[in-house]
Amino acid sequence: MKDHEIQHFSDLDRLTEPLIGPETAMPHDASSVPIFQTSSFLFDRYEDMAAVFAGQSDRYIYTRGNNPTVAELEALIARMEGVEAARGFASGMAAIASAVLPFVEAGSRVVAVNNLYSDAFRLFECVLKKFGVTTDYVDGTDTEAVLAALPGASLIYLESPASWSFTTQDLRAIGAEARRLGVVSVIDNSWATPLFQRPAEFGVDLIVHAASKYLAGHSDTIAGLVAGPKALMDRINHEAYHYLGGKMSPFDAWLVLRGMRSLHLRMARHCANGLALGRALSADAAVTHVRHPAFEANPGNACLSGYGGLFAFDLDDSVDIARFTNALRVVKIGVSWGGPESLVIPAQAALGLSGAANVFQRFGTPAGSVRIAAGLEQQEALVEDVLNAIEEGRR
Ligand SMILES: Cc1ncc(COP(=O)(O)O)c(C=O)c1O
Repeated sequence: MKDHEIQHFSDLDRLTEPLIGPETAMPHDASSVPIFQTSSFLFDRYEDMAAVFAGQSDRYIYTRGNNPTVAELEALIARMEGVEAARGFASGMAAIASAVLPFVEAGSRVVAVNNLYSDAFRLFECVLKKFGVTTDYVDGTDTEAVLAALPGASLIYLESPASWSFTTQDLRAIGAEARRLGVVSVIDNSWATPLFQRPAEFGVDLIVHAASKYLAGHSDTIAGLVAGPKALMDRINHEAYHYLGGKMSPFDAWLVLRGMRSLHLRMARHCANGLALGRALSADAAVTHVRHPAFEANPGNACLSGYGGLFAFDLDDSVDIARFTNALRVVKIGVSWGGPESLVIPAQAALGLSGAANVFQRFGTPAGSVRIAAGLEQQEALVEDVLNAIEEGRR
């Protein structure tokens, strides 16, 4: 297995600058963004209200639409992703649903990459299907196959790297062809964050974040964001955002903003801890596959300038998965990722997920696979914990 070099770490210096202080002047010269925990904003006069209703003024009216704390985060993510506008949502899933819905209608066809996030898969299979929107799944590492699936599609849904397979897509080739054909491209960029991948630079239209993960970074909030060109964000504003009502709350926006002030430091650590674990696991006799972009050549690896700490590895039959999992001490058992603590999900448990449309069964996730989110712990302790647990898990 080849350990690819992390090439552009100097980008971190350039990108940390916008995180240091508020995007706009704060009341009382506050050094960080206050929480505007208010539902409604008052008008002095009738004329002020009438001007807002007529679209002649864009001042704050009601927090389900706009809120100053949330607006700070929206401006920050738009700037970091290098796009014109952004919107905050109550969760990553609210962001994903709102990024997709305006661009499909009955009879539309969506193209999505295999191994997409489990609930995004369920959005396509359990919700959109009911309204006559079909989804074709393609192997995102087969660029020719992705391009061949685009003609006639309304939207292409990307995740690079994809959940559980952690395989990457050639964003430049797919973004260019989608744009040529008028297919809206959407990518979930939660894993890389704009510090390690800026999909708009490669021609992808809309960028979605589960801000619950690395952006917020402390396992204490659920939040989502969509960023993109003004024309498409206007479609989202007018055809989904206000009416679905999944608005990010001021308090959640404040938590994400606070988390993002240390994003560069945390991402460097998640990246290093993930690579250290990946290296140690590659050398372990019981590990048959390390699913991490640094350890596998795939078409979109060149789009990444660093790595998230989330990846998967496959254990052979010599290890009992339950015993391995229970032997972990530093690493905890839990869903989600992006917080300070390292977490595992064994595929054996995920394959048994109740309810319709099981993404793990659909894309054949091996029962011996384990997803691990490398947290911020001391590196040697983390590596030792996982290697010890493999030893203890031996049948
Ligand atoms: C890759 C990815 N995208 C999106 C989401 C959804 O985010 P949220 O839980 O904030 O709705 C998740 C959540 O686990 C995820 O892992």
